Amino acid sequence: MKPDGVRRGLVGEVIARVETKGYSIDALRMLNADRALLERHYAEHIGKPFYEPLVEFMMSGPIVAIIASGNRVIEGFRSLAGVTDPTVAAPGTIRGDLARDQGTQVVQNIVHGSDSPESAAREIEIFFPK
Ligand code: RTP
Ligand code: MG
Repeated sequence: MKPDGVRRGLVGEVIARVETKGYSIDALRMLNADRALLERHYAEHIGKPFYEPLVEFMMSGPIVAIIASGNRVIEGFRSLAGVTDPTVAAPGTIRGDLARDQGTQVVQNIVHGSDSPESAAREIEIFFPK
């Protein structure tokens, strides 16, 4: 969960959607991300015009890292989350129901979700170091 979701008191709501869909919550950690962590997490976006605003936004307050599991959970969570732009994310999705474009430099959309088993493994290492 990104800082906007935590600030707005939506942690429980988002977790409830994941759990009621039938996925398990296996680990959960609230933290303040620093620049070094975000550089690793968002390595694919370094150099893009929204990178710096994205990092500033992600450092603007606590985030909640969650490991969820279940058959096809990556695909399922991305479906629950909705598309990146909350203005057009379908009603019924986390972003469609709970967020809108606030006119900020980078779109604030409540949640992040890993997009492949490889990125999930990489992100778990970042947020839950052994
Ligand atoms: P995420 O990685 O956060 O689950 O979101 P996503 O796959 O839907 O979006 P992605 O393309 O990976 O972008 C990561 C995050 O960067 C911000 N973003 N802003 N043009 C923009 O203003 C823009 N593009 C991307 C969003 O916060 C997005 O979730
Ligand atoms: Mg992404």
